[in-house]
Amino acid sequence: MSSYHDQTAHTYRSVRMKSHRIDWDNPPKPFKSYPESFPRIALDAKVSSHRFLMLIGGITAQKSYPGVTYALRTNPSAGALYPTETYVQIRTVEGLEDGIYHLSALENALVRLGDLNENEGIETFLHVKKVRGFVFLFSALYYRSSWKYQTRAFRYCLLDTGHIIGTTEASCLLFKRDYRVCYTLDRVGLNTLFAFENEEFFLSGAIVGEEDETRNSQTLTVPLSSADETGRFECDPRIEEAYRRTCTLQAEEEQRAMPAFAFDHKRWEQAIWKRRSIRDFTQKPLSKEQFFETIRFVTEPIPSDCDVRVDLYAVINRVNGMEQGIWREGKYVQKGDFSKYAGYLCLEQALGEESGVTFFIVGGDAQNYQAMMQKAGIIGHRLYLIATYLGFGCSGIGAYYDDEVKAFLQCEGMILYALSIGY
Ligand SMILES: Cc1cc2nc3c(=O)[nH]c(=O)nc-3n(C[C@H](O)[C@H](O)[C@H](O)COP(=O)(O)O)c2cc1C
Repeated sequence: MSSYHDQTAHTYRSVRMKSHRIDWDNPPKPFKSYPESFPRIALDAKVSSHRFLMLIGGITAQKSYPGVTYALRTNPSAGALYPTETYVQIRTVEGLEDGIYHLSALENALVRLGDLNENEGIETFLHVKKVRGFVFLFSALYYRSSWKYQTRAFRYCLLDTGHIIGTTEASCLLFKRDYRVCYTLDRVGLNTLFAFENEEFFLSGAIVGEEDETRNSQTLTVPLSSADETGRFECDPRIEEAYRRTCTLQAEEEQRAMPAFAFDHKRWEQAIWKRRSIRDFTQKPLSKEQFFETIRFVTEPIPSDCDVRVDLYAVINRVNGMEQGIWREGKYVQKGDFSKYAGYLCLEQALGEESGVTFFIVGGDAQNYQAMMQKAGIIGHRLYLIATYLGFGCSGIGAYYDDEVKAFLQCEGMILYALSIGY
């Protein structure tokens, strides 16, 4: 899928030539709403299984500008546009009734879309046995993002969904639940089952529970109830084509290992609630220990059915006890002060220049594009959380001059995502 990625690369020229006018008076709705007649389970922070769900993309703050109020969430989002929606099948979980639900961040509730009986479920669409626990599904309503970012928005839908998976992982670590990310879904079957039109499509899922090795759950046959409102929509044929062309993954190696991370429970929960994007760095340096603790956490395994290799390049701008330069897997690609140039590469954003470290995530597996981009988002989410946990800050950077970054890092492949950390 390098062609979609290449076609949506930013260059110094393309950014200045853009004639796209953003229709600020008509933004898409950031929330999907189902009719009031659908039964709901209001989530209650005092019930453990409910709190587990509240941390997955839940609202944690409000930000007001003249005329608009944004709800900020446990996950960051490119342009605060939140294209990802979360659905979940629940089977035998304490404090929750079995069923198939939409997880509504706005309402802090589960909205019931369908019943579940003993032998039916969505497991077959994920090619897994019957699951006792949660089966999550993550989709994107792409116009929420393409309204502002046009065709490059498919990248942000994937990265944002990776961040939502990251919130799921963080909640699993907190509540000591095992999980596995699933990319090999029957996307077409699921899009039909959930009555999606072309404006919304599934990108991934996650199993949080135990697979029953003996019994196969049968395919759910009754179609689920659909939403009456998703908001304004304008089709982008290039995004829909990019989605279609990347739906069939080439099976990669499965990753079964869980990440090992010894953390203080209370501090970790606070980090999940308090995570925000840093807006300005003070330029105080990070310590070498902070840098290596960050690297240790973000490079822990991510359990999934399609574990694509991605590489993490670190532009060391300000880390006490470390030389400046481009660092990768314990070695310097090149030494020197590249802070100014890193800022330039991130479309002249000071975030790239004034950070302690600016990261670039690089991948080359065009066959598994959806899995690779979402993995970059999960790593990005880990960076945000470990930075918050250790007392400094992080910001995702979706905008960079792709080809110039590649030349700077002296690498092949695709530049998937950039992020900065520091004080
Ligand atoms: C994929 C992605 C790309 C982003 N790109 C940028 C960026 O280029 N510049 C920037 O200042 N913030 C960027 N952000 C941060 C968002 O603006 C931020 O997450 C959003 O405004 C919500 O605020 P919060 O993270 O504090 O909750 C990005 C976030 C994500 C997830």
